[in-house]
Amino acid sequence: MSPIEINKDDFIEIGYRLIDIISDFYDTINESPVTTGETPEQIQAVLGNASLPENGTSVSELFTKTSDLLLNHSLLNGHPKFFGYITSSPTQIGALADLLASAVNPNVGANILSPMATAIEKQTLKWLAEFIGVSPTYGGILVSGGNMANLTGFLAARTAKAPKSMKEDGLVATSGKMVFYCSKATHTWIEKAAVLFGHGSKAIRWIPTCADNKMDTVILLQTIDSDLKNGKKPFLVIGNAGDVSTGVVDNLSEIAAICKAHDLWFHIDGAYGIPAAVIPQYKNLFDGIQEADSIALDPHKWLYAPLEAGCTLVKNPQHLIDTYSAHPVYYNFDNSADEPTLNYYEYGFQNSRGFRALKVWMALQQVGKNGYIKMINEDIELSKLLFEEAQKHEELEAVTQNLSIATLRYVPLNYAQDERMNETYLNTLNEKLLNELQQGGEVFLSNAVITDKYCLRACIVNFRTSKKDIQEIIEIIVREGRKVYEKLQIK
Ligand SMILES: Cc1ncc(COP(=O)(O)O)c(C=O)c1O
Repeated sequence: MSPIEINKDDFIEIGYRLIDIISDFYDTINESPVTTGETPEQIQAVLGNASLPENGTSVSELFTKTSDLLLNHSLLNGHPKFFGYITSSPTQIGALADLLASAVNPNVGANILSPMATAIEKQTLKWLAEFIGVSPTYGGILVSGGNMANLTGFLAARTAKAPKSMKEDGLVATSGKMVFYCSKATHTWIEKAAVLFGHGSKAIRWIPTCADNKMDTVILLQTIDSDLKNGKKPFLVIGNAGDVSTGVVDNLSEIAAICKAHDLWFHIDGAYGIPAAVIPQYKNLFDGIQEADSIALDPHKWLYAPLEAGCTLVKNPQHLIDTYSAHPVYYNFDNSADEPTLNYYEYGFQNSRGFRALKVWMALQQVGKNGYIKMINEDIELSKLLFEEAQKHEELEAVTQNLSIATLRYVPLNYAQDERMNETYLNTLNEKLLNELQQGGEVFLSNAVITDKYCLRACIVNFRTSKKDIQEIIEIIVREGRKVYEKLQIK
């Protein structure tokens, strides 16, 4: 037997034990701290500094040790009081699906290498299109996350709109004239795209937002006109369907109309927010998504898939093939009865690809569309509750609430009387407070800077959170806020 093979009895024994450990972990997750707050040095000390093992170790011991490392020294994003950034509580079915996917290990780069997995990915994409309410004829690909989903769409846009000679001549063919538009609230992936794909950061036209934090479409139009007059080649506008800081959805139908009038590619970054389009009462907020040429959405955010699962949907998937396909002589992938063969390596960056569709596909069936409507709606309601509780509290200022993101800040009671207090002081106070909360292990929040106010930000993409958690979080923030304020006073 090869040294890496595990015999059947051991596999069963270790596998069952691991499942026992993981079910206990889920069962008691609300009693654990969200984080132990250990420093990198402390983590390093727990891990030890051993050099590369010369010889093997018992698998059973390895699992005992490794589950202790991970379960007792991680930030638990499955905890009911975890609201940091946009990372969801992971579905249990997703964890099991990942095990099954790894066991079979289909390479979903080519149909011949993954016949069933390719068919399941295709169905998952169709379901995701139906879920958000665009035509199921949109096609696409699952990718690692939001950044990759947006970058994948960005290059499809460029191929569609750049001169055909760009494939041979590179960006020289466009003489550096290609420019693109997004609101200033757009996630940082756009800067990566500009720099890494050779356009340079000056090619980004950052469009200001209105008071409601939506892209100002009047300025968008003016900027496009002025670029055209100056000989630039506008090719793409990005609309946000849930911006990363505050969850605002741009006026997508207005942006769609502008794109249509100017023959521009319309891409929507819906990595976080677009699943909310499944809820009948929020559907209108997303009017215009049916016009998008490409859409990024992230099952590992609001569909609660374990990392990693992002998705790019494209109205005409041929644009992905035009962008990513290649036919080297050493591939014999086009011989299936279906014409043309669906080979996912032709739809994106990756060649060999894992089976990330399975965890999404299984969760969609476990709870159905209605299960998701319930969970997503509850997240929104909990976020509203947090905002309202902050509004009621005399030491809190509720700042924004959109979709399932609420922002707020701690404001000491005697704010008005204390002449040392100004916006800079409040920003320092809230930044320190956030650091204390993140280390403290009772709740995990992140931050947003809104019109120069440093805010605490809770993004609820968490099916474990309850109303009681929200009430407790208010108390925790106020209690810790007072402590930080006192500390600052003493200094
Ligand atoms: C709107 C938006 N776009 C893109 C991303 C990037 O997603 P990922 O971290 O999965 O790459 C995020 C992440 O929070 C986001 O909120």
